[in-house]
Amino acid sequence: MAATVVDAEYLKEIDKARRDLRALIASKNCAPIMLRLAWHDAGTYDAKTKTGGPNGSIRNEEEFTHGANSGLKIALDLCEAVKGKHPKISYADLYQLAGVVAVEVTGGPDISFVPGRKDSNVCPKEGRLPDAKQGVRHLRDIFHRMGLSDKDIVALSGGHTLGRAHPERSGFDGPWTQEPLKFDNSYFVELLKGESEGLLKLPTDNALLDDPAFRGYVELYAKDEDAFFRDYAESHKKLSELGFNPSPSGAKAVADTTVLAQSAVGVVVAAAVVVVSYFYELRRRG
Ligand code: HEM
Repeated sequence: MAATVVDAEYLKEIDKARRDLRALIASKNCAPIMLRLAWHDAGTYDAKTKTGGPNGSIRNEEEFTHGANSGLKIALDLCEAVKGKHPKISYADLYQLAGVVAVEVTGGPDISFVPGRKDSNVCPKEGRLPDAKQGVRHLRDIFHRMGLSDKDIVALSGGHTLGRAHPERSGFDGPWTQEPLKFDNSYFVELLKGESEGLLKLPTDNALLDDPAFRGYVELYAKDEDAFFRDYAESHKKLSELGFNPSPSGAKAVADTTVLAQSAVGVVVAAAVVVVSYFYELRRRG
């Protein structure tokens, strides 16, 4: 694995790549497939053996030709244009950044992104991602293997608020919601409504209604979009960091930038207070 050194220059490239991804996603309307790419790179993680996970291995033909990844070559190729402009950035970071940006630009919550993932060429065996034809037990087996919880399963399933299934890719057809380019809580609202003309429900989507623990979260997220956004942002961050321990320098660099931004805000506020007091004083005297 090549080391990814997160220094000020790397962070600057991440910032630029974030802008390029925003523009790319807006112009190609490709937020859904970018989110699916990020999830499929990360979702192979096995917490026991510490293998798989968000390490860019999905860019290798051996992995992107797995049945579950059908169609994702399109997203890999789109990311290549951004990688060409910012070669320093690891593929692993780039795919996860694309997932975060996809959620943000379609109206979803901001998701904290810490860079520094290393690339790997070791591809996991086929079969680690969920099979849409199965039910509750399978969902728990797959997500608990990654080290994720029941709450994560339901919150992350809300990612199907974006996009659609394609018959030539998965054999399923159609979107889950009326507005598949808008990130909101409508996936849960539609799920509770049951059959709706033209909208898709995979067996794994319906499984979220079969289990009382899952169902509790579905009901909460359908009526409280803020709760969904808060939990989704947390679960997405967990998914994007499976098996990744941010280096102290990476985490610190991000923290420093935040502190810097906060100090900048502080200076602006202080300046505004001075200006307002000055005019107040002038008026009082006049
Ligand atoms: C819970 C288990 C899951 C199963 C069984 C599942 C299955 C599927 C299937 C069959 C498709 C259709 C692919 C196609 O035909 O193009 C799909 C699409 C999609 N999935 Fe999932 N998925 C799961 C979880 C997730 C998660 C956790 C996320 C993200 C957080 C996600 C995001 C997406 C997106 C955005 C699409 C639309 C892609 C497009 O429009 O091209 N999925 N998923």
